[in-house]
Amino acid sequence: MSKTAKLVLDGKEFDLPVIVGTENEVGVDITTLRDRSGAITLDSGYANTGACVSNICYIDGEAGILRYRGYPVEQLAEHAKFTEVAYLLIYGELPTLKQLLKFREDLTYHSMIHEDMKKFFDGFPNGAHPMAVLSSMVASLSTYYPESDEKAKDRNIIRLLAKAKTIAAYANKKTLGQPFMYPRNELSYCGNILQMMFAVPCEAYHVDPVLEDAMNVLLILHADHEQNCSTSTVRMVGSSQANLYASISAGICALWGPLHGGANQAVIEMLEEIHRDGGNVDKYVAMAKDKTSGFRLMGFGHRVYKNFDPRAKILRKTCDSVLERLGVHDPLLDIAKKLEEIALRDSYFVERKLYPNVDFYSGIIYKAMGIPTEMFTVMFALGRLPGWIAHWKELRDDPKSRINRPRQIYNGAGIRDFVPMEARG
Ligand code: SDX
Repeated sequence: MSKTAKLVLDGKEFDLPVIVGTENEVGVDITTLRDRSGAITLDSGYANTGACVSNICYIDGEAGILRYRGYPVEQLAEHAKFTEVAYLLIYGELPTLKQLLKFREDLTYHSMIHEDMKKFFDGFPNGAHPMAVLSSMVASLSTYYPESDEKAKDRNIIRLLAKAKTIAAYANKKTLGQPFMYPRNELSYCGNILQMMFAVPCEAYHVDPVLEDAMNVLLILHADHEQNCSTSTVRMVGSSQANLYASISAGICALWGPLHGGANQAVIEMLEEIHRDGGNVDKYVAMAKDKTSGFRLMGFGHRVYKNFDPRAKILRKTCDSVLERLGVHDPLLDIAKKLEEIALRDSYFVERKLYPNVDFYSGIIYKAMGIPTEMFTVMFALGRLPGWIAHWKELRDDPKSRINRPRQIYNGAGIRDFVPMEARG
């Protein structure tokens, strides 16, 4: 691969350095382009633009590959615990047993939120969307832990990883009008999420290992995904040297959109609509192909994966096994499988390389686990949290990192003089 790319602009030639990644991805470095040529590049939606060089996550969209710090996600989902994967993403290596036990102890010790923070929930209206609660409560953590110097960085990372699951569970209890359940130190990270979500003070709660295993796989599969919309948001906000809590709160808001993490909630709502409508899958596939319908097959398509999303493959299997072990028959799963089967035969989807993505099956598993639909994207956020933190840390640890400030091409009105009110007609 040549070390430089040649750009010819207005008869002038510009040699631009070419960089090649670990897996031979090729990037043309345009850092000096504007200074030398006065021109910028334009790439709305950043589909062809690399925002950074990163060591955390690798995706090959054509081959359906996803690796965290070099480890295939299939192996991590099968053999690792979520806390191991969180440690790997944030600190770069799989933890030794000693490191993992200390990490888990820290996460357990910091699980509770300040008692005064519980009062914040009184201010939210009943039915407040838990993503709004999660993003505002995470940002509010910075009022209790304002120190953002180098020494505080690791402590804030632990606090956030430990407390986000408690905040998420409290948001669910607020929606249900039930009392908050404190974390229990003897439980695992995933077991505590389940306990705080589902336990009630009036009876003993035992963590179902089926649900604990499913939660572990779901969180691992959502843990990172290179420069997706919400992770890019975390890096954008973090590049201004905003504190960790503010940066992650912004990422939570970006994830909420139905084109991104909000898709898992939208998938279930779509499947329920099809179910209510008699399960007429062909009708909805036809609508998805009709641009005037404004309808999209939620859970299908991906900016990067132009082949099967490897996470969807794993979740399809997890779906079958969790529903079987729980003895749940969900007609929505049958509808989902029929949708997938028809879409994967239909030229509209095949030509556009639209395959099921991570959100297509996850909602069916969450639903089988008893998690309310509005909490699905919150579960996605809990999974993505170590990835967001890892990217924020990578950016903040880089002495050469600068505030992100993209350019634009202006296409508005040319210069004109102010028009006094009386002359405006
Ligand atoms: C996530 O980036 C990440 O890594 C995200 C994520 C992560 O882990 O962080 O993987 C998580 O966000 C997964 C995606 C969840 N979103 C959805 O499932 C929503 C439905 N999917 C789409 O809206 C869409 O596929 C996107 C948003 C996922 C991707 O959008 P792109 O890359 O901008 O593609 P596009 O909208 O330009 O679509 C290309 C074509 C268009 O048709 P044409 O104009 O070429 O004729 O495909 C069509 C689109 O109309 N199309 C769909 C479709 N998705 C794209 N048509 C019907 N149903 C769909 N779902």
